[in-house]
Amino acid sequence: IDVLGPLGNGFPDPGRGKKAVMVAGGMGIVPMYMLAERLPSSTFLFGARSAQEAVIADDFKGLGCRIKVSTEDGSVGKKGLVTALLKEELTPRSVIYACGPAGMLKAVSKIAHEAGVRSYVSLERSMACGIGVCLGCAVKSKAHGARENRVYKMVCSDGPVFDSEDIDWELFQ
Ligand code: FES
Repeated sequence: IDVLGPLGNGFPDPGRGKKAVMVAGGMGIVPMYMLAERLPSSTFLFGARSAQEAVIADDFKGLGCRIKVSTEDGSVGKKGLVTALLKEELTPRSVIYACGPAGMLKAVSKIAHEAGVRSYVSLERSMACGIGVCLGCAVKSKAHGARENRVYKMVCSDGPVFDSEDIDWELFQ
């Protein structure tokens, strides 16, 4: 196989005196593994549909982070959405790192905004080129360009990690 990379950016460090809280839903767990290796004193929150799906969080055991799980059917961990766990864990010192479905990312962004804490989201998009050429992975940012038009960012080359305050979540899906 041919492999092109590395592409895009990565999660920044939380900063001095800050505490990382990672939030992942479903397949969004994947980019969190290396972050958890890098930030072993962080908290890792994982949301899944059921205990069967949640078993993947066991891979984080031994990395040093605190792990909390929620499942929609309540078969393991707290019953409900992972965003409920996030609300319990947040402190003014928190920095959130999130990856998962669009609805989860929107909710995380809202929680962070209301709590006044910084959050970084790793966005998922179908990608054809991976180098900012095809424009297939564009997302609306809150920045304005010429004639007050919204600026689009490419998830592949500007991201995939963005400060959640930079994304226009209204049309994001
Ligand atoms: Fe082509 Fe991002 S995948 S611009």
